Amino acid sequence: MRRWTNLALFALLGLAFTTGWVAFFYATAPSRASLIVHAASGYAIIALTPWKAVIAARGIQRRRPGWWASLVFTGLVIASIAAGILHSTGLLTGVGAISAMEVHVGAALAAIPFVIWHVIARRIPVRAVDLSRRSLLRAGSLLAGAGLVYGAGEVAVRLLRLPGSLRRFTGSYEVGSLEAASLPVTSWMFDAVPAIDPATWRLTVRVGATMKQWTYEELLAYDDRVRATLDCTGGFYSTQDWSGVWLSRLLPGRLSQASLQVRSLTGYDRRFAISDAGRLLIATGLGGMPLDPGHGFPVRLVAPDLRGYWWVKWVTTITIDELPSWWQLPFPMQ
Ligand code: HEM
Ligand code: HEM
Repeated sequence: MRRWTNLALFALLGLAFTTGWVAFFYATAPSRASLIVHAASGYAIIALTPWKAVIAARGIQRRRPGWWASLVFTGLVIASIAAGILHSTGLLTGVGAISAMEVHVGAALAAIPFVIWHVIARRIPVRAVDLSRRSLLRAGSLLAGAGLVYGAGEVAVRLLRLPGSLRRFTGSYEVGSLEAASLPVTSWMFDAVPAIDPATWRLTVRVGATMKQWTYEELLAYDDRVRATLDCTGGFYSTQDWSGVWLSRLLPGRLSQASLQVRSLTGYDRRFAISDAGRLLIATGLGGMPLDPGHGFPVRLVAPDLRGYWWVKWVTTITIDELPSWWQLPFPMQ
């Protein structure tokens, strides 16, 4: 059972980590599907605590080199799971400017070097018997049980009318919908708000060797509108009325290229399939007013049904080329 417990923890940590990122990638149905597996793997890790506590107690007594690093690792796993549950139940969704979701993901990321070290330093041999019928059955019932705990938790959150019952299928909480002034200002990671002079700013659209530039005034002449929900990986969502111009209207006629890249003044960029151009809005306005600097002035991308980190702010360049739309990191590194 000891080896099995450690192996199961290894698999569950990997499963929780992967399904968390899959949920972050989507703002549509796959996000929920992934989060159900995600939550179940988190609860399965908790369920293994009694067995792991025996293993850990023995390890600590043996004082093997680096035993303290295992404790730091334990602290990070506990912090991540606790923040995840606080977020999902809504009991505490943040302290000051830091959201529980940020602590949740931050602690999980910080745990990565420790888990790598832990499984190398406390290596256990994998044997054929680990894939025996009995082991697999045990794994199956653990996950199924954890899934039931997740289901019971969802019911309890609703019966107790905890704030968690109001969250969206992505797990995000509503903030200031249709009140433009209440839309929080956030960025994926490091982008600072740049000061841009609209008189000298240009939107450059590049197709192969040809290039066209649009002034802010020219873009203001359009009044395409969309009501879209910005679903932030930080844990909130907000539905707003956006205005501007459909990106497809800025492109020259029919294009045979595969994708388009939207780049910010900050260097941040995202790539989309060319067939998405008709669904992407180059927004100049939010709630009937010009954008403010924090929300991307002079223009930002509005990408309905995609997570907030696709909504590039302070757009300066759109490049159409032959690269496939998946030719990018799934999550930006800046
Ligand atoms: C939730 C994840 C985990 C936590 C919180 C955790 C925590 C700990 C702690 C606190 C110890 C005792 C201190 C030490 O010996 O370093 C320990 C020992 C150990 N862990 Fe983990 N661990 C986790 C996952 C794993 C995984 C995935 C494996 C292997 C694949 C593993 C294998 C071991 C082994 C073999 C020991 C040594 C036991 C001994 O020397 O008697 N652990 N763990
Ligand atoms: C080993 C690491 C992780 C563990 C053990 C873990 C575990 C958990 C647990 C137990 C919950 C509460 C689920 C519920 O009660 O509904 C949760 C929620 C959540 N986690 Fe993780 N998590 C980990 C890493 C991540 C990562 C890396 C991400 C994203 C990149 C992520 C994204 C989420 C999201 C979006 C929720 C909210 C789900 C909701 O409210 O419905 N998690 N996680």
